[in-house]
Amino acid sequence: MNDTSVHATKPLLRALGGAPSETPPIWLMRQAGRYLPEYREIRADAGSFLDLCYDPQKAAEVTLQPVRRYAMDAAILFSDILVVPDAMGQDVAFREGEGPVLEPVRDAAGVEALDPIGVAERLAPVYATVERVAAALPDDVTLIGFAGAPWTVATYMVEGGSSKDFREVKGLAYRDDGVFAALVDRLVTATIAHLLAQIDAGAEVVQIFDTWAGILPETAFERWCVQPTKAIVAAVRDKAPGVPVIGFPRGAGFNTERYIAETGIDGVGLDTAVPLAVAARLQTRCAVQGNLDPILLVEGGAPMETAARSILGALTGGPFIFNLGHGVLPQTPPEHVAQLLQVVRGE
Ligand code: CP3
Repeated sequence: MNDTSVHATKPLLRALGGAPSETPPIWLMRQAGRYLPEYREIRADAGSFLDLCYDPQKAAEVTLQPVRRYAMDAAILFSDILVVPDAMGQDVAFREGEGPVLEPVRDAAGVEALDPIGVAERLAPVYATVERVAAALPDDVTLIGFAGAPWTVATYMVEGGSSKDFREVKGLAYRDDGVFAALVDRLVTATIAHLLAQIDAGAEVVQIFDTWAGILPETAFERWCVQPTKAIVAAVRDKAPGVPVIGFPRGAGFNTERYIAETGIDGVGLDTAVPLAVAARLQTRCAVQGNLDPILLVEGGAPMETAARSILGALTGGPFIFNLGHGVLPQTPPEHVAQLLQVVRGE
């Protein structure tokens, strides 16, 4: 853990430094997005989703919206994990109602065509967004930068978008270790550059989203989730000591403890399925973040309140950041988020 941050004044940095708190800091994955009318308004004028990600003025505004509305303890940069393949030269588009569509990379020539070196230059508008947000945030609010983990980003790059069975990406990883390792190596290089540039621009914490960490058997999990993440954490530690890293190995289950130990992260994001007794045990290893079911936030009322209270009861004794187990869903009524904040802050 990060000793310097125990003395930090921002609640999120204190938690990541290992300090317990009676009122945990709270932010929500996907806290900016379609459930907010003020987001939909800006989104309607922005052109494509990627245009919005590359418009520093609009992206900064959208980043700040949930912080203003709810007084969240953190802002997370508004961007996407797929700006990295876009900046490496792969064709990436977001189609309305369809999600991301990419020109699939499935062989050595496709991998060699990707350029991991110019990524930070091409993503300059993203860092301009970080600078704007950093300048506008209240003193006690932490700015979180992020990237997708190489494995998760590779799933979209190889499948050509979202997938149900991950047939292509797993097939490639099992069949052609050399080609898949070359792809992951390029992603490690690009991801390090991308995170360091966000930190340079003012990000105080970075989160690595490994949304699809839970679909691999043990050996492949070690090779494609743990090792690349470990390399990224080491590079951030080396170049930006004092900037805590949160890992989110969604669905990693019994592999979570080893992921924490080997990668050296400061905080772990836990999905909804992790039992609270297990989460509390993990707090002896690092700070824990999570893990309310996003569907409970859609439902609101007593079921949400009861579940939030049991999470608080189990985890406020150790270093803890309240969050969901995955992102806010577009159907979420904004007033349920306000209700959740009241419960967490004991108001
Ligand atoms: O958390 C935040 O508020 C910051 C912004 C953020 C977005 N995507 C904005 C977004 C973050 C951190 C992400 C990460 C991301 N993107 C992940 C990892 C986390 C997770 O949710 O599992 C993944 C897998 C992606 C890839 C991605 N982006 C998909 C599959 C989709 C389509 C599905 C959908 O919800 O529409 C996106 C689009 C996307 N990224 C939207 C937002 C707000 C919706 C696009 C829109 O507004 O039109």
